[in-house]
Amino acid sequence: MGLNYYQIKKNILRARKLVIKSTNLAGSGHPGGSFSMAEILGCLFYKHLKFDPSNPSWEDRDRLVLSKGHAAPGLFSNMAVAGYFPETELETLRKFGSKLQGHPDLKCPGVEFCGGSLGTGLSYSIGIALAAKIDNKNHHIYTIIGDGESDEGQVWEAAMTASKYKLDNLTAFLDRNFIQQDSYTEKVMPLDKNLEGDNISEMWKDASRWKTGDKWRSFGWNVIEIDGHRIEQLNSAIAKANATKGVPTMVICRTIKGKAVEHMEDNPQWHGKAPDSDIVPLINLELDSQFMIAPSIIAGDMTNLENEVKRCVNGRADYIHLDVMDGQFVPTKTFDHNKIKELRPLTVIPFDSHLMISEPVKHVKDYVEAGSDIITVHAEVCDESSFGEIHDLLKQNQVGVGLAINPDTDLPEWSYKFLPTLDQIIVMSVVPGKSGQKYIPETHEKMAKLSSILNERKFTGYIEADGGVNLENIGSCFEDGARAFVGGSAIIGQTDVRAAIREFREQVLQSRRRILIEKAHHLGGSELANKWIGLHIVGKKKDQLIKIAKEENLI
Ligand code: DX5
Ligand code: ZN
Repeated sequence: MGLNYYQIKKNILRARKLVIKSTNLAGSGHPGGSFSMAEILGCLFYKHLKFDPSNPSWEDRDRLVLSKGHAAPGLFSNMAVAGYFPETELETLRKFGSKLQGHPDLKCPGVEFCGGSLGTGLSYSIGIALAAKIDNKNHHIYTIIGDGESDEGQVWEAAMTASKYKLDNLTAFLDRNFIQQDSYTEKVMPLDKNLEGDNISEMWKDASRWKTGDKWRSFGWNVIEIDGHRIEQLNSAIAKANATKGVPTMVICRTIKGKAVEHMEDNPQWHGKAPDSDIVPLINLELDSQFMIAPSIIAGDMTNLENEVKRCVNGRADYIHLDVMDGQFVPTKTFDHNKIKELRPLTVIPFDSHLMISEPVKHVKDYVEAGSDIITVHAEVCDESSFGEIHDLLKQNQVGVGLAINPDTDLPEWSYKFLPTLDQIIVMSVVPGKSGQKYIPETHEKMAKLSSILNERKFTGYIEADGGVNLENIGSCFEDGARAFVGGSAIIGQTDVRAAIREFREQVLQSRRRILIEKAHHLGGSELANKWIGLHIVGKKKDQLIKIAKEENLI
């Protein structure tokens, strides 16, 4: 069974948008902490948690305890996406008589714990974990605590107690976003080490400074430390936690408060504040403009692909693009599913298998079994019936579904019916066959046209730009509508993969910022553009935005 990566991502995006909508309508609430735990909740709700929205008190359900209860909009939004109640109910957030209050309350069916008084959720979880043991039940208890909340002495009493009673049916997540209500956690009550200045990223440069994991380890917990925004790391941590016997598990998730909206990220102001109505469309556009970078390993040393995978991992790639060529659909041969199977144990990073093979319907199962997280087949060698078969097989296995088109192919008519459930469309910008070719400039126009058609037809997946993408053209590819970018020679062909990926990201961000300022200007003239720019108070973002806005004459 695959990771369900793309579906989880889509649901997380929907939930984030609901957080923005509901806190805006309420005029208050906590978007920052809802966003820092967005992926934790996404991975639980859409992959691991056992629940039945039509029977919220089902006895054998897993229990999800949100101890950092102020992040209730995040919980409620996911409950709506998961089917507990209609998404429109989020419009009643924090209103009199609503079951969706500022903090979770048991009067909302499906909520397990009345959060709000910080520091108590872990103790409560211990109670229900002990009860499950006494009753011989094997459901699991998942508890999310905050790092600000960790100031409370009760958290550490609970830490001792859970390990005393060997509660291996309890997994806690620490949403380690470094910010609490008043300021940075390391200034209020350091969990790791005193923070000099306000640069949180300084804290995380040097792992030897991380003390939080040691604290939990010394209390007898199994500790797993991960990037709390990476679905695949969360997934693997939860699987490991569930398999660990005799001790409770603490997953320390390095997260970013306000993650996914630049002006909210790492900004203590967004702990408990609602976005203004004129900013909401800009935030939604930004949320719709998340992007991913995927190196293509065939541009590296084909005799040592294991090492190329490691370079991608160390370079912080979002996923790895695997170009399978069979010597028939394209003249070249690269590798097949056997190689992918060999590479799979090296990393949990999603594998994006791009099948340039002539009869994909015959072989796609092998690529599922090899451990692909998304499989893309070419439109030129499919028809409605074979693609339908591929589509269904992939969906059943929780593997993403992709369709690729060559430079001289248009999206076929028969594919339209699959668009709402498709996860990716690869628009080839070179004739497939090898890496290191030049980007075909006509692709810009083709992609821009396609992306507006796809928008109209409710496509919610990613358009992936593949072939000849480099620092010069990646910004325009983003403007055309691409949200995933393959880099062969421009990433794997470079000595420093990490630097190359960082530069790719920076270029895309530049384009995204320009688009957002233009949108702000379009919606509310230079006043709104200035207001939006002014929200970016952390780091150097504001200076960069002002520069772009001045170049474009928008402020
Ligand atoms: C082309 C492949 C591409 C290619 C990418 O047939 O599908 O993924 O290898 O490499 P560059 O970025 O060098 O074109
Ligand atoms: Zn490719």
